[in-house]
Amino acid sequence: MGFERQDAGMKSDATPQPYDGPVDVLSKTRIAPEVFAFELARPDGVPLPLPAPGAHVLLRFGDYERRYSLLPPVTPGSWRIAVLRDAAGRGGSVALCDGLEQGATLTAQGPENYFPLDTGHPHVMLIAGGIGITPIFAMAGALWAAGTPFTLHYAVRAAAAAPLLDEIRAAPWADALRLHVSEQGTRLNLVQTLLRAPSGSHLYVCGPERLNKAALEAALDLGWDSGRSHVEHFATAEEGDAAANGAFWVELKSTGERFEVPEGKTIVAVLEEEGIFLSTSCSEGVCGMCVTGLLSGRADHRDAVLSAAEHEANTSITPCCSRALPGETLVLDL
Ligand code: FES
Repeated sequence: MGFERQDAGMKSDATPQPYDGPVDVLSKTRIAPEVFAFELARPDGVPLPLPAPGAHVLLRFGDYERRYSLLPPVTPGSWRIAVLRDAAGRGGSVALCDGLEQGATLTAQGPENYFPLDTGHPHVMLIAGGIGITPIFAMAGALWAAGTPFTLHYAVRAAAAAPLLDEIRAAPWADALRLHVSEQGTRLNLVQTLLRAPSGSHLYVCGPERLNKAALEAALDLGWDSGRSHVEHFATAEEGDAAANGAFWVELKSTGERFEVPEGKTIVAVLEEEGIFLSTSCSEGVCGMCVTGLLSGRADHRDAVLSAAEHEANTSITPCCSRALPGETLVLDL
């Protein structure tokens, strides 16, 4: 991946967005004890772009900026999201669920898609955990419409707390559902589930990180080619991580210039201040757009896009979120 040096103040090479502007809350509905569905629409009445399965929207409200997967719309021209009110989270979901009512206005950017679905596979194994059902629900509908055989394994703690379960049971593809309820002792057994997958099946998984990781590891252990496993990651680092980590230096191979990356700043941000703009999109280590060659120095890899083997090899880095291990200087192939 290359970079370009621009005059300070110019914009980085961002992917053009179909819509970036205000949206109004058309409706707010509680769909599970701690989950709210929101319908969003443009104030000027222009239809929002129809999202592909797996796409998400970036919402800005108050001091928060959060990504949410998009559900198939109910009201034409609107977007629909489902938000888990996580009282133990970083505050965004509580602010959204408690603070936004019908008629409120916020800012939305999207759709973007880091978790695209290919309906051309011979069979698809969908695995969702909790609120991770949102992109998986959209995928199930698209697979059914395309005539692609699939099975949806939905792991929840309690059926009464499972978002979208009523909609799934009413869907024309409801017979693809395999519900795993841990309170009832029907916990999802990943190895057994993957062993039953037809030959050539592809896996799409979205849930808590431990579920995502366990599913990917189980698939690898069973000999699945890594290209057959697809996972949706959301934020990979908790708020405050950056500030808790020390400063380090980066060096550019092409010029030998060295820049200090202080606490709380990313490599991308420091380089931008110097007029060096890297291509970025997610800024969270999930899309892979910023991946840059690493020539020396051991990195603290914090992304979810490079594989464990690539982290071990330490020859590339995601400068939007990864840092240097203590005492290391990173020489970037820039
Ligand atoms: S910008 Fe997406 S991984 Fe760095």
